[in-house]
Amino acid sequence: MPEKYTPGYSSNATNFMANRSVDTHAAFFTPYILPGMKLLDCGCGPGTITLGLARMLEKLSGVESRSEGLAPGTVIGIDREASQIRIAAENALTQAVSNANFLEANIYALPFSDDSFDAVFSHALFEHLQEPVKALRELWRVLKPGGIVGLRSPDWGGFLIAPTTPELDKALSYCKWLQQQNSGNPYVGRELRALLRQAGFTNIKASASCEYYEPLSLATEYLALIIEASEKVDQGVEKGWTDEQSLKAMSRALRELSQHPDGFFATAWCEVVGRKGD
Ligand SMILES: C[S@@+](CC[C@H](N)C(=O)[O-])C[C@H]1O[C@@H](n2cnc3c(N)ncnc32)[C@H](O)[C@@H]1O
Repeated sequence: MPEKYTPGYSSNATNFMANRSVDTHAAFFTPYILPGMKLLDCGCGPGTITLGLARMLEKLSGVESRSEGLAPGTVIGIDREASQIRIAAENALTQAVSNANFLEANIYALPFSDDSFDAVFSHALFEHLQEPVKALRELWRVLKPGGIVGLRSPDWGGFLIAPTTPELDKALSYCKWLQQQNSGNPYVGRELRALLRQAGFTNIKASASCEYYEPLSLATEYLALIIEASEKVDQGVEKGWTDEQSLKAMSRALRELSQHPDGFFATAWCEVVGRKGD
């Protein structure tokens, strides 16, 4: 089965990603960032986290260190989708962030020499990968000896949702099934630690956190649109998993949750940091 990116690139999906920032989504990684570092962000999407990392490097380097000749450090964001790279580069321009660059590239074959980066980061990509260890070996290759890798991915075993209905349960199961059909792994979060070890990283530290969606429609509309698009794109109906009526009932259930006065929707995220060498 070929690997396919389940959310697609609708404006809803892109805006969903663009809500993210270093403070809200990369806090586990920022303690490892030092002035002057060269960072790589893989699967950067619209680049809001990447730009936050660039601003952090700029701030860390400070006027004092620059007068001593220390460059502020740089971030390169890569994504295999040209539209995301365009959006990220435009954001860098409009926000006047000069130490971030964006490049269309695949994590499995990065266009960089061995030992190029001080740290490599990847947020919400590994759940979409068919060969995560192959990707991690590529990250290992481009990292300098002693370099840091930081990954964060959701684990869809950790949905906290209320009030539930059978249609809502079915909607979430269907979304998981779609991701698996596309060769992704909705439960990769809990496996990130093992994957880093398999790829040879050491000094691994794992952690987890929860994201509550405010407003709820941020998450429910994102999933409802993926379900609706799947009728054409992923052939859930043709493959016998569902029928047209159920698709409608599942997306309706998600939208009803976002309107419910007691509605609650949170997701578990898993985080790991490791090192190349001891
Ligand atoms: C869920 S988005 C995450 C975007 C951003 N990191 C964030 O968290 O906001 C995943 C991104 O990874 C990209 N992607 C998927 N497979 C990829 C691959 N093999 N190599 C590089 N990028 C990939 C997708 O195009 C998408 O933009």
